[in-house]
This record gives sequence, C-alpha cells and structure tokens, in this order.
Amino acid sequence: MQLRAMLALLAAAASFSAWADAPIVIKFSHVVTPDTPKGQAAERFGMLAEKYTKGRVKVEVYPDSQLYKDKEELEALQLGAVQMLAPSLAKFGPLGVREFEAFDLPYIFPSKAALYKVTEGPIGRALLQKLEPKGITGLAYWDNGFKVMSANKPLRMPADFRGLKMRIQSSKVLDAQMRALGAYPQALAFSEAYQALRIGAVDGTENPPSNMFTQRMHEVQKHVTMSNHGYLGYAVIVNKKFWDGLPGDVRRPLEQAMREATIYEKQIAQRDNDLAMEAIRRAGKTTVHTLSAQEQAAWRKALLPVHKQMESRIGKGLIDSITSTAK
Ligand code: LMR
Repeated sequence: MQLRAMLALLAAAASFSAWADAPIVIKFSHVVTPDTPKGQAAERFGMLAEKYTKGRVKVEVYPDSQLYKDKEELEALQLGAVQMLAPSLAKFGPLGVREFEAFDLPYIFPSKAALYKVTEGPIGRALLQKLEPKGITGLAYWDNGFKVMSANKPLRMPADFRGLKMRIQSSKVLDAQMRALGAYPQALAFSEAYQALRIGAVDGTENPPSNMFTQRMHEVQKHVTMSNHGYLGYAVIVNKKFWDGLPGDVRRPLEQAMREATIYEKQIAQRDNDLAMEAIRRAGKTTVHTLSAQEQAAWRKALLPVHKQMESRIGKGLIDSITSTAK
C-alpha cells in the first residue's frame, strides 16, 4: 500500500475511534430559570447522569427558553433536535394528549400527599403510557407547587376578575377556569408572560411563587393572592427512539440518575416556593392577600363547576378516579 493511502486509512481509523468514544449527548431544554426547582433538578440529573455513566453521557441543559419556547420544544423533542424536556402538565394538549389537563382542574388536589397518590400510582403510569404513540417516553413527574393569582388590583372575590385579561398556559382547563371567574384567558408562551404583563397586554396571571419570582413578574404585578386554587407540575419526557436505542448499560444508570434527581426535586420544590413567596413579600412591590374562609368558599363555588364542564374533554372516568384517589 502506498504511504499516502496508508496515512489516509490511519486518519480515518483515528477519527472513527474518536467518534466511537464521543459521549452521547442529551440536550435537555426547559423554559424556567436555573434556580427554580425544575432548573436545579435538571442540573442534578445532568451531574448524576455523567457520574453514573462514567462520562459516556453528557447532559447539556438549556434553561429559560434559550433554545425553544413551549410549543416548539415539544416539536423539537419529537423531531429529535433535543432529547429531554420537562414541560408542565398543562402543555400536553397540543400534542393530542388532553388527559394531562386533569391536573389543572381547580382544587382537584387537596394536598401534595394526595397528588402523589395519583402521580406515583397506576393513574400516573397510565397517563405517561399515553405519550408512547407520540414517540415520547415519560420518565417521571416533577413538582412545582400550588398556584397564586396576580394582577394590578386586589383579587379577593371572583367578581374582582371580571373583564381582566389573564395569561394562562395552553390548557383548555385553564381557559375554562379563567372564564368561570369572568376573566378573558390569553394563552401565551412562558417566555412572553413577563413582557406581556409589563406592557399591559395582559392584566394578570397565575403560577406558583417560584415561577413568579424568578421571572420577576411580581415587579409588574401590584397584588398577589395566595389562593392555592390549582396545581402546577411537570412530566420529564424523552424522545422514545433515542431512549430505546440506548445500550442497556447506559440506560440503566440514566434511570438511576432520574430516580435520584426526582427525589431531590420533590424535596426542594416546596421549600423553594416558600422562599420565593417570602422574597416577593420582602421586595415590597406587591401586596400579598390571604383569603378568608368566606372568600375561599366563593372561589370554590365559582370554580368547581369547571370539573363537570371539562368531562367531555378529559373524560369523566379519569376525573372521577383522580378525585377518589386524591384524598
Ligand atoms: C408556565 O408556562 O407558566 C409554566 O408552565 C412554566 C414552567 O415550566 O414552570
């Protein structure tokens, strides 16, 4: 063999072995800041994944809608442009899996313990299974917390919502919830919420305190009501083809990393939300309202009919089984 041909062969072999040794990259895209419960758990997963696979996997976390906004990230996952996401459960409707919107039903979870009975039991597993035909595998549920409502006026009674434009996630249940209060829901990507509030394109919004604080929404909202009227959580999802294609000795340590990151996420979610609420109070730009028993009763009366109204979309059977499990 001529020297040049031999050198070319050697170079090709070297680049093949460099390619074979290159780590498997998991791009994990999300829309919140790195210091939220989801942001911190994504980082923790990345660290554990690299450790447990001994560097065979590298996780690149892209927070704060840096790569994609809400709807685009789901498309990117299906196309394989990213491998992992953790969208809120309110955002699966556009994928054609409406059942996750059951998590948005007002007052459906009386406590976190009640919620875990659903997410960690057969209902939670069956819901994740529904993603498989969409080319998506569900790995875990992650927490955020119960939501507060905000606006530039006090929101103490349902009548206070009349005529307000309220930013929501793209969930028909949340749409119905705002309408039940007499407000006009506006579905906007999370990355657009702060700006829309700032310029007055919308009047108010809802989110757990950790999201409100880290997006600085409290700086442009004069009033926050600690209503805890609904829940916001996530499903961690991967591109199914990518996941199924991983060798077993890579997938198993990744599953372990996900289990540990999930435990960590649940440990920090409540604390982070409490700290965020405290920080909102301390910032002094927002008046924080706590509802009296009478006001709470009025909210429930206005919002509970949304369960019945959403039966045709989500399924009466599912709503009933969540209600009877979440006690
Ligand atoms: C929102 O859009 O309000 C939230 O879903 C953002 C998030 O991912 O927590």
